[in-house]
Amino acid sequence: MSNVIPFKNREIEDHIDRRANNAAEGEVILLGAGPGDPDLLTVRGLRALQEADVVVYDRLVAPELLACTAGDCEKIYVGKRKDRHSLPQEKICELLVSLASSGKRVVRLKGGDPFVFGRGGEELDVLENRGISWQVIPGVTAAMGCAAATGIPLTHRACAHALTFITAHRQQGELAFNWDLALQKDQTVVFYMGLSVVGDIAAGLIERGKAADTPVAVIANGCRADQQVVVATLETVAERVRQSALPSPALIILGEVVTHRRALLDVAVGVSS
Ligand SMILES: C[S@@+](CC[C@H](N)C(=O)[O-])C[C@H]1O[C@@H](n2cnc3c(N)ncnc32)[C@H](O)[C@@H]1O
Repeated sequence: MSNVIPFKNREIEDHIDRRANNAAEGEVILLGAGPGDPDLLTVRGLRALQEADVVVYDRLVAPELLACTAGDCEKIYVGKRKDRHSLPQEKICELLVSLASSGKRVVRLKGGDPFVFGRGGEELDVLENRGISWQVIPGVTAAMGCAAATGIPLTHRACAHALTFITAHRQQGELAFNWDLALQKDQTVVFYMGLSVVGDIAAGLIERGKAADTPVAVIANGCRADQQVVVATLETVAERVRQSALPSPALIILGEVVTHRRALLDVAVGVSS
């Protein structure tokens, strides 16, 4: 008897039918650009860029990727500008809906992976509600890219059996993440968007019982030619980041895995410890 489970998911079938019917009506592809090095784009992602009529892109996207598009492809920047905020999320969603409704094949190009702190879910909700065909093509998220580029394994059988991604931005002035999650033993914690609050994170963890000598790495501009890395402990990290004047974007990796970093890469990646 066959073990194959018959394909019966009505929702997926409807979606595929709709995509077939709407083929001439345009679609939106949420595409992960990876963390900075254009070579980290997937092969499927490259194909999507080459076939795009319009690319709607963010600030953290490598400029080289825009050069992979066809000559007549329109490129629309919706990220932060020097003196202004980025386009509000609702406006970006409206733009995607309107472009796809006019029959365009739209690539929504985002840094890292669209579904990791990338608002991909919010955009998908709107597309689905408005009956727009969509696809998601994953990208290398910053945690994976930065870990690879600095020789820090994210898990390790000796010390890290779990991996937690946390967004460290503030809500109403307070760090809003679940501290208990960050305090679990035998794991690696990766903080996104935490550079400006690295001192508060470190102090908060020590206050709640985390060892002050827990290793921490902060990687700025990971996977780019100007990558910088600070290796420190919870106790010293804030001062070390301040001294190094690390720029944004930066990622914080916390846990014993940092001690397994392959030092061979240090010259290439500009580690200071
Ligand atoms: C809005 S989140 C987007 C995350 C993205 N969707 C991903 O999967 O990597 C932006 C944060 O990602 C991290 N980040 C993105 N690119 C990075 C890079 N090249 N180096 C270090 N951190 C990066 C930083 O913490 C930054 O504040």
